[in-house]
Amino acid sequence: MTSSSKFKYTIDQPLPEHIPVKMLAPSQETFTSSALFERELSTIFDSDWVMMGRAGSIPEPGDYFTAQLGKRPIILMRQKDSSIKAMGNYCLHRYTQLLTGCGSTKNIVCPYHYWSYALDGQLEGVPNKQGFCPGDLEEAELVSLACEVFMGYIFVSLKQDRVPVSTRLAGLAEVLSNFGLERYEDHFVEHQDTWNANWKLICHNFIESYHVTYTHKKSIGPTNPTKAAEYGPVGEPYHTVHSNSYAADHFPEVFNTRLDDSEKTRFYVMGVFPNGLIAIEPNFVWWMALEPVAANKTNSRWGVSFLPETLKRLDEPEQFIQDTVELLVTATSEDKEMVERMQRGSMFGAEKAGPLHAPLEIHIKDFDDYIRRQMASA
Ligand code: FES
Ligand SMILES: [Fe+2]
Repeated sequence: MTSSSKFKYTIDQPLPEHIPVKMLAPSQETFTSSALFERELSTIFDSDWVMMGRAGSIPEPGDYFTAQLGKRPIILMRQKDSSIKAMGNYCLHRYTQLLTGCGSTKNIVCPYHYWSYALDGQLEGVPNKQGFCPGDLEEAELVSLACEVFMGYIFVSLKQDRVPVSTRLAGLAEVLSNFGLERYEDHFVEHQDTWNANWKLICHNFIESYHVTYTHKKSIGPTNPTKAAEYGPVGEPYHTVHSNSYAADHFPEVFNTRLDDSEKTRFYVMGVFPNGLIAIEPNFVWWMALEPVAANKTNSRWGVSFLPETLKRLDEPEQFIQDTVELLVTATSEDKEMVERMQRGSMFGAEKAGPLHAPLEIHIKDFDDYIRRQMASA
């Protein structure tokens, strides 16, 4: 199947038969209930693959960033063999959080009593060792979690028995095969961006393009208008993809020779369930990995990555990086304002659900179907 044949329904065309005309948004309580939030953490974030960020942001052995897997603090550490390891971010002695933020280190030293660990989590040093039973220290290592890098993104799961990410996202990989997303260079990462909103509202916002013309007046609205949006394949269990293509007078200069004519003008927008959001166009990709904090609070780790060929061919690559990041900082703040307003509006507690646009908001339904399936199977 070619990329264009998957994206043929725009806002003005009649609906294909398999798209229901009547679809409803979740109730307001879905975004404000603390009890529901707790259940989502335990049934989704403690169970499924969760997207953490870009592998390229920790390129060298000893490079790391810290993150949250649901409520659990974890470390993502580049290893000496160049793999990435996900480990529990707590000391085996009395549970002190070991690392904070991001950085680079030769080993992991607990700040409390200076127990030290190798990059792979093996316990290496214990001050005043004679005071402990030797058996308690032998072969001790930080808790290791399932970790997989796919298309340049790091995924982690508490469960060791999940279907591999590469298998579950095979359909997405097919759509994106000409882009080579794993090669994109990571020039901007923001690890802490707090949104006063439920994590699902941020997902909903990212995976629909109905809002783009109206919300993104200062950034991507004029170049990628709502009118040019096309929804992608529906019914995928673990992801959505649609196209928020460029308007004809804003087609980008394209340096990736593998892209076909259709791909050269598209801005693919993807939801990688539960918490990964990725938008890719011919020269850069804009991504977010969401960390739910509370029913009304979410941390977004987000960044911008660039096609290497584009940076090689442009006369002023640094300027292109700066301009693109500025554009997406603006787009992100436009999104954040609207999402936080949705959160505040949801505090009313109305029971009647709002209607969804078909087809441009159909992926909200796909996402909520995924949530329902995960909660039901717990
Ligand atoms: S808690 Fe880490 S060394 Fe004591
Ligand atoms: Fe947006």
